[in-house]
Amino acid sequence: MTDQALSAIVEKGRAQAAIGSLREEGVYDDSRSVFERGTGTVAIPVTRTPEETATLEIVREAGKPRLQTLEDHLRERGWSEAELETAPGSWAVLGTVILVDVGNAVRPGAVGEALLAMHGGADTVLAREGIDGQHREPTVEVIAGEGDTETVHREHGIIYAMDLASVMFSPGNKAERARMGAVVTPDDCVLDMFAGIGYFTLPMARAGAAVTAVERNPTAFRWLVENVVRNDVQTRVETYRADCRDVIAGVSQATDGDGFSFDRIVMGHYNAHEYLDSALSALAEGGILHVHGATPEALVPERPVRRIQEAAEDAGQDIEVLATQEIKGYSEGVRHVVVDARIA
Ligand SMILES: C[S@@+](CC[C@H](N)C(=O)[O-])C[C@H]1O[C@@H](n2cnc3c(N)ncnc32)[C@H](O)[C@@H]1O
Repeated sequence: MTDQALSAIVEKGRAQAAIGSLREEGVYDDSRSVFERGTGTVAIPVTRTPEETATLEIVREAGKPRLQTLEDHLRERGWSEAELETAPGSWAVLGTVILVDVGNAVRPGAVGEALLAMHGGADTVLAREGIDGQHREPTVEVIAGEGDTETVHREHGIIYAMDLASVMFSPGNKAERARMGAVVTPDDCVLDMFAGIGYFTLPMARAGAAVTAVERNPTAFRWLVENVVRNDVQTRVETYRADCRDVIAGVSQATDGDGFSFDRIVMGHYNAHEYLDSALSALAEGGILHVHGATPEALVPERPVRRIQEAAEDAGQDIEVLATQEIKGYSEGVRHVVVDARIA
């Protein structure tokens, strides 16, 4: 049936996946809001009965027209124009959790409630307050909803399960995660030195690469192992809970200096340059490094490129810079940059 008042009923936990699928089918009606309906189910507005997306039932209920923006929602909640100036401009929906920098918003709780009203499949809003230390552990605060910080996020066909209260996930690295899945060729032999929960390991392994994934933080490592299973890449990923330098040195010792020989090494850490000597010792001839870093704008791309050149020189190797990408802002005036370099 075709109707302006149809909604598809799905279990709440499936809402985000169902919205994605309905969107793909071309039947998701984003002019109306998703709304809760009964216990544990939500109604997703559709323009006609879906044929490919699984639903519990299709009902003739229109729900409410969607209030388009966060400002619309906050205005409806009585925020003045001056207060609206303090509202955040962006946030990320990661499965059932919304991650937001509330900055100096006057009423963070109301921002959280408004975001939940906008994103029917979400049940928790987390304010991101910072990421600390070598293990990149986040500090977050629940500002609205149920407070369940565990979530399953789907992106470019990859499943990322995680607890956002204890591991980081950077929405701004989305394009880079996709790029890593696209640059590998099947059977590439890859080392991911700072694997986290599998940000780059998973897209590369799904694309057919054999990945050795090293992660030192036990909490992140636990999610890495779970995500390897969830994405069905157990046969292509070998995981180590260790310091990546120790893994490289250990294998080198065990093989009398022969060590590893990787076609590609991903160095997804802001201090990656401190590990270049170790990475270079594990790279095959003609292999490629992907070196991340936080670089002041004025020094892009010279500083990260120079650091790789110097490390290669120390190791008696030459490099060819293939590309420099700016991924996102890191802080005021500082960019998150990744350099791709081939070692001759
Ligand atoms: C910045 S996070 C990963 C960022 C990720 N590449 C992304 O795209 O969001 C870096 C990860 O490296 C891990 N780590 C830091 N130093 C390490 C080391 N020496 N060996 C192995 N893992 C390390 C941290 O625990 C953290 O999970």
